[in-house]
Amino acid sequence: MAINIALELGTSYTTIFVDNYNIVLREPTAVAFLDNEENTVRAVGEEALKMQGKTGEKINVVFPVSDGYVSDPESATLMLAEFIKKIFPTRTKFFAPTLKAILSIPTGLSVEERKTYEDILVKAGINKVEMVDKVLLGAIGADLPISDGGVIIASIGGGCSEIALVGMYSVISGCSINVGGNMMDRAIIDYIVGKYGIKISKATASRLKEETASLYVNDIATCEVKGLNTDTLTPTTVKVCATDLYETLQPYYERICDGILGIINDCPPALAESLHNKGVFVVGGGAKIPGLKEMLAERIPLPVTIVSEPEYASVSGGGKLVSDKDLMDEINAQ
Ligand SMILES: Nc1ncnc2c1ncn2[C@@H]1O[C@H](COP(=O)(O)OP(=O)(O)OP(=O)(O)O)[C@@H](O)[C@H]1O
Ligand SMILES: [Mg+2]
Repeated sequence: MAINIALELGTSYTTIFVDNYNIVLREPTAVAFLDNEENTVRAVGEEALKMQGKTGEKINVVFPVSDGYVSDPESATLMLAEFIKKIFPTRTKFFAPTLKAILSIPTGLSVEERKTYEDILVKAGINKVEMVDKVLLGAIGADLPISDGGVIIASIGGGCSEIALVGMYSVISGCSINVGGNMMDRAIIDYIVGKYGIKISKATASRLKEETASLYVNDIATCEVKGLNTDTLTPTTVKVCATDLYETLQPYYERICDGILGIINDCPPALAESLHNKGVFVVGGGAKIPGLKEMLAERIPLPVTIVSEPEYASVSGGGKLVSDKDLMDEINAQ
């Protein structure tokens, strides 16, 4: 018996789809080790993240994916093995149905990097691995036709953003921009220290971004957050305005917009008409910021669509592809 799965090892989240069950796991890409025993996993995902800086035990929390790429393959393997155990608790040495996976990968990995990714999955207990570009899977997840013409997929993740012209079952052209949610969180922390003299945590910065920020210039929302006064070193509450967050985040989204315009400019003339009809589709967690569609539409002369549940688009695409042999054959033939 074989079980088809699809997964993404994202900088912020690991997401796993199981055929017939849909998305079964989405947890922070994090693993907590006992400090003096390098390979002893104490926790993974949500639980590992919670342990950061908060536990009496000596715990070392590791984030094995940085800027979109696996930077610590050993930790990634141990983390993934735990996630697989969580999903398939009855899988043992004696009863181990074959796992076939489609892994969502950044565009342009070298042969060695692909081997590293494959090794991680195999060592974590996955028997057969196929790798497909995240942007291509994003298009499949968003139900876009990839057999002909061209469409632009922009993926805004936690570690980086990728923009690609996709068509003829492949990535025709693309670029990667080192802008992602983590960088935005750090920028929010710096802005609030600079303006209010209060140091907030990374978790607080993420929450501000995800719950209060928008790309509407006159947004009047506010949010109270706790941090440490950098002068008195006492816990202090500060009211942060949506305009503070706009000022911080808008330049990053402008860079993504510049990247999209660059890919449009480079579009081969033969694909221009189809691209102009289909336009630009935005996926990845960073696409969830309110006002993004309006901001992009102001500068981009093509239809712009923010895909619904954008953080799941590429894994959902992998989930569709994993049981569609004909489509997989077409992609592999490119
Ligand atoms: N409403 C929101 N506004 C802006 N960013 C958001 C919002 N909701 C989630 N995010 C951000 O989306 C990011 C996670 O997105 P996603 O799951 O696509 O990334 P990832 O796959 O882990 O990263 P990558 O693909 O870069 O390796 C996080 O940085 C998160 O804070
Ligand atoms: Mg991603």
